[in-house]
Amino acid sequence: MEEEGSYWKTSITYVEKNKILVRGYRIEDLMENLSYGETFYLIFKGELPNRKWKKILDALLIAGCDHSLFCPSVAAARYVASGGVGLQNAIASGVNALGKYHGGAIEGAMKFFYILKEEIKKEGRMEEAVKEFVLKYLKKEGRVPGFGHKLHTDKDPRVLKLFQIAQECGLKGEYLEIARNVEKALAEIKGRKLPLNIDGAMAAVACELGFDWRMGRAIFVLSRGLGIAAHSYEEIVNGRPFKEVPLKQIRYVGPKERGLPIHRRDEK
Ligand SMILES: CC(C)(COP(=O)(O)OP(=O)(O)OC[C@H]1O[C@@H](n2cnc3c(N)ncnc32)[C@H](O)[C@@H]1OP(=O)(O)O)[C@@H](O)C(=O)NCCC(=O)NCCS
Repeated sequence: MEEEGSYWKTSITYVEKNKILVRGYRIEDLMENLSYGETFYLIFKGELPNRKWKKILDALLIAGCDHSLFCPSVAAARYVASGGVGLQNAIASGVNALGKYHGGAIEGAMKFFYILKEEIKKEGRMEEAVKEFVLKYLKKEGRVPGFGHKLHTDKDPRVLKLFQIAQECGLKGEYLEIARNVEKALAEIKGRKLPLNIDGAMAAVACELGFDWRMGRAIFVLSRGLGIAAHSYEEIVNGRPFKEVPLKQIRYVGPKERGLPIHRRDEK
């Protein structure tokens, strides 16, 4: 027979009547003393973050909070909202649009930085190790996650600020340096600037904070989720129902109009 209480196991939160303990701490104490970013760290990592990290943890979650309709997730959420669904359906559609080219690149970038750090340790020289690793990666995978942007090709204000706050908060900066070296190597190899983007910058900071790469997408979901929710709400409340792609934006490339061969179909 199964032992009582062994069907689900969790180390995150304990609840009983009139008591909620998150990672062992009373929820009232968290509400009184922690920021959202610190609570996010506690919930995922199980322990309280260094007090000096408060600002960078909040900045990490604010950095990706919105980018208007200039990204697949927000546009998807608003399209779906215009169909008349409930708020959470639109939000879920936006979240579902986060993938390896948008928002989800943070996961690949974290994994990339963690492995590269080990390679640098083995090789001893940062520049050589980075270039070799990037070359190998490009050959195998095509695109390095966390680099390149359709709009902010030069000075993404979020990336610069995130790195500045990370330094002010006393993070070691090893992954920030690795990220900048990858950017340099990519420019040399590809012959064009592929800037560190917000996914890549958030990934570098998340690595500095010791997060597991497998929870990288959760960071972006929790950050962009805010913008996705606000846009969904705005579309539901103020938007024109039924948003369609304008006909002039749709090019039909199938067969020309033709008669249906009703009698000839049996001949095949
Ligand atoms: C974000 C992204 C889609 C923007 O793309 P874009 O500026 O429109 O560029 P394109 O998709 O047209 O690609 C143009 C060229 O740059 C290359 N390129 C773009 N991003 C690259 C990357 N991260 N690594 C290697 N090469 C890259 C493409 O392979 C292509 O090369 P080619 O001309 O030799 O075929 C693209 O940079 C990318 O896929 N980045 C990786 C995923 C990522 O970090 N996404 C988060 C975005 S915030």
